[in-house]
Order: sequence, then structure tokens, then C-alpha cells
Amino acid sequence: KKIKLKVPATVANLVCGFDILGMAVHDPYDEMEFRLLETPEIIIKHIDAFGLPEEPSGNVAGIVLLKIQEYFNLKNGFEVIIRKHIKPGSGLGSSAASAAGAAFGANVLLGNKLSKEEMIYFAMFGEELASGVRHADNIAPCIYGGITLVKSTHPIDIVSLNSPDLFVTAVHPQVEVKTSDARQILKKNITLKSAVEQWGNIAGLVAGIQKNDFPLIGRSLNDVIIEPIRSILIPKFDEIKAKSLQLGALGGGISGSGPSIFMLSEQKETAEKIAEMMKSVYTEIEIESFVYVSKIN
Ligand code: HSE
Repeated sequence: KKIKLKVPATVANLVCGFDILGMAVHDPYDEMEFRLLETPEIIIKHIDAFGLPEEPSGNVAGIVLLKIQEYFNLKNGFEVIIRKHIKPGSGLGSSAASAAGAAFGANVLLGNKLSKEEMIYFAMFGEELASGVRHADNIAPCIYGGITLVKSTHPIDIVSLNSPDLFVTAVHPQVEVKTSDARQILKKNITLKSAVEQWGNIAGLVAGIQKNDFPLIGRSLNDVIIEPIRSILIPKFDEIKAKSLQLGALGGGISGSGPSIFMLSEQKETAEKIAEMMKSVYTEIEIESFVYVSKIN
């Protein structure tokens, strides 16, 4: 038995929704092919050029499969062939795609024994391997599709939100920002004033998403806690954000822990103009970049 999956990139956090809000996009995506083996080995093959480890316990997909195998006491193993297009370290949910794809693919081969919450439980081991933290904001939209709210991870409580008809522009500048470093630099304590502002934004964003209220989404895409600190790690962040808003973006911010930046727009033309602008800002300072114009998946 063999199955093939397309596993989407994800933007998570969605600005103010640190560790709780994420969305799946159409492009880029990874391709994964799964085979159930009669023997208990886990075989991971990467047919891409990223040089990721293939030893199962050191591979994001492999660790998820090992955990599933252990949980079900399986005599079977899995062979997974991964063609990654979502660049590792981009902030576009590359590790989440491998982890969520592994949980989803194994579940199909095992006859859909796992609930979505259980798939998330297993996929979080992959995120832990990749970044040291068992966060689910990228995995959840990867498995559920669209936009999701991670209400809690203990117990796993995921709310699937509406998917507004919006375009997503993302740019990945080729600079290294490690998720672990981008988490380390965050303040451990925040003021009540910032907390109130932030939860106003989060509530506004969720309400805007549910009501297809685009101006409300735009007004709520504000992060007063994480972005001011993390944006320092991303060259030209403020310039790209300001120029995107001038070109008509509703709003946007850092994708995940960076270095990618994303913007939401109502019109395809706006999203494409923003993509051109992003590319030229990085070309000017001789940083290679990749841009994607996509939709919420
Ligand atoms: N929510 C995580 C963070 C995503 O912002 O650190 C990292 O991929």
C-alpha cells in the first residue's frame, strides 16, 4: 500500500497570535510518499538538496513515526520519501510539514485510527525535535487546513476558523534565524498594558476572520509583544511592512519565528505588487530571497 501527500507550508504565528494562530497556504508545499512495510524498520529518504538527517530518531518525520509505531506496538514499519520544497529555517512551517505529514500519512496507512487531535499529539514530537518546543500552531493548520486556533495543547484543543478569501504574499530572505534563538530573546514578563492591547488584537483578528471583516483583520494584525523584539533579526522588516501597507496590504508581519515576512491582501494584483517590492528590497541589499503569492489553503 502506497500513498502520496502534498503537505502545505504554514504561517504561524499569525502576528499577535503567538503560538496559537496559524494558517495553511497553497504554495509552497512538500511532497511525501508513504509505504507500509511488513518489517518494523522506519526508512526516511530525502530527495531534496537540504541535507536533512535521515536517521529516524534525528528526523522530524522519523521521530513521529517511531512514536506512532511504539504507541500501537506495530510490527509494521514505514518507508517515507520526502521531496521538500518548504525551505528548512524559513519560518514557513517546514518542520511542521514533515511532522504533520508523517502523522497524517501513517494514519491513512493504519486505517484512520487516529483523531486529528491525536495526529497533532504525535506531530508535536517532530516540532520538539526541530525547535525544542512542542508548539502546535503550524501543525494544526497543516492537518485541519485553513486557519486554526490552538486553544490549548494540554489538553489538545483546536478550533478550526473560517478561511477568508485573501491572498498571501510571503518573502523568505536568505538569512538565518533559528527558532530557538528567536524564542530565547523574548521577554519572559510583559506589562498588563501590553497584554490588554495584545488580547484586543487577537480577539479582533479572530472576530475579523470569522466575519470576513477585512478592515477589522487589517486593524488587528498588530503585535506589540513579540514583533518589536524579533523584527530586529530580520533585515528591512520595517521597510517591507510600511511599503506593503502603502501598496494596499491589509497587514501582516513575521511568519513564525522568521525570517520570512507575510502580508495579506484582498486583490491578487496587490499581492503580486507586494511580491515584486519585497524581492527588489532584498536585491538592493544583495540578500537572496524567495517570494510566494498564494491563498489560504
Ligand atoms: N510559534 C512559533 C514561534 C513558531 O513563533 O516561535 C515557530 O515556527
